[in-house]
Amino acid sequence: MSIVKADDVAYVRFTAPELPTMREFLLQFGMLGVSAENGRLFMRGYGTAPFVHATTEGPPGFAGFGIRLNSLEDLHRLAQAESAPVESLDTPGGGFCVRLIDPDGFTVEAVAGQAAAGPRPASRHVVWNQGGQYPRTSEVRRVEQGPSHVLRLGHVVLGVGDFRRSEAWYKQRFGLVTSDEIQPAPNVAIGAFLRCDRGDEPCDHHTIFLLQTGAKPHFMHSAFEVVDFDDLMAGHEHLKACKYNAAWGVGRHYLGSQIFDYWRDPWGHEIEHWTDGDKLLTKDGGGIASIDELMGVQWGMKMPPLPEPQP
Ligand SMILES: [Fe+2]
Repeated sequence: MSIVKADDVAYVRFTAPELPTMREFLLQFGMLGVSAENGRLFMRGYGTAPFVHATTEGPPGFAGFGIRLNSLEDLHRLAQAESAPVESLDTPGGGFCVRLIDPDGFTVEAVAGQAAAGPRPASRHVVWNQGGQYPRTSEVRRVEQGPSHVLRLGHVVLGVGDFRRSEAWYKQRFGLVTSDEIQPAPNVAIGAFLRCDRGDEPCDHHTIFLLQTGAKPHFMHSAFEVVDFDDLMAGHEHLKACKYNAAWGVGRHYLGSQIFDYWRDPWGHEIEHWTDGDKLLTKDGGGIASIDELMGVQWGMKMPPLPEPQP
């Protein structure tokens, strides 16, 4: 029995020496500005999270991430179990957090009580025609040119020093369940796609992915859901035209099934657009997957060599 059950990831935090450069990249990536003052930059998506990406001025690096809990009651239960204080969040949307350090030294902020932001209209709702089904009739399709529309943070991926140790740490605290465990050989596990235990409410196939790569622990990527395939492709063309650095994509993963498109921020941190991922219930359980399934694609660009870990 875990201490609490997480609802989702909330945001990622970075440090970077030039906030205007980060802001410009994230605007072209499809986020919206919230505030940029006193050496802190906050960006949101078109959904209800008050922010999804935060940068503090400093040397470039990953600075941790937020995990959203369902209630302040849960946050206090976690605080008590961890003998950690409940702190006020001085970030957009307010709320409270408990700061924890995971086994590899990553900062994890469990958050609750944030005020939801008013969602912004992301783009015209478009109905897809498919073979045999043509619900869009007497209406032309025109895709909006420009950045994608980031709806929400979907998952965070960490390269960890000891997979079983990290898996236990996150599961014991946040009640995560395994969707796919990566086994290069029978009973040899090096990672897992973990999702939130929401019972009968659908959850993304993965919310946190932990992978023991053999390198020292490092941030691997954060991933943001966009509206649909057209929105992802429009964003791909836009980022390419802006001459940002493409990392991997476009393609469709096996594990989680998302259509993906990975980019690098101006300091080399990988950041993903995705759409059309699998949604699972708790009763759907989990499975075991191979390295080929992890690295392979159902269609699209094959996986390039892993980049050097960034700080
Ligand atoms: Fe991803």
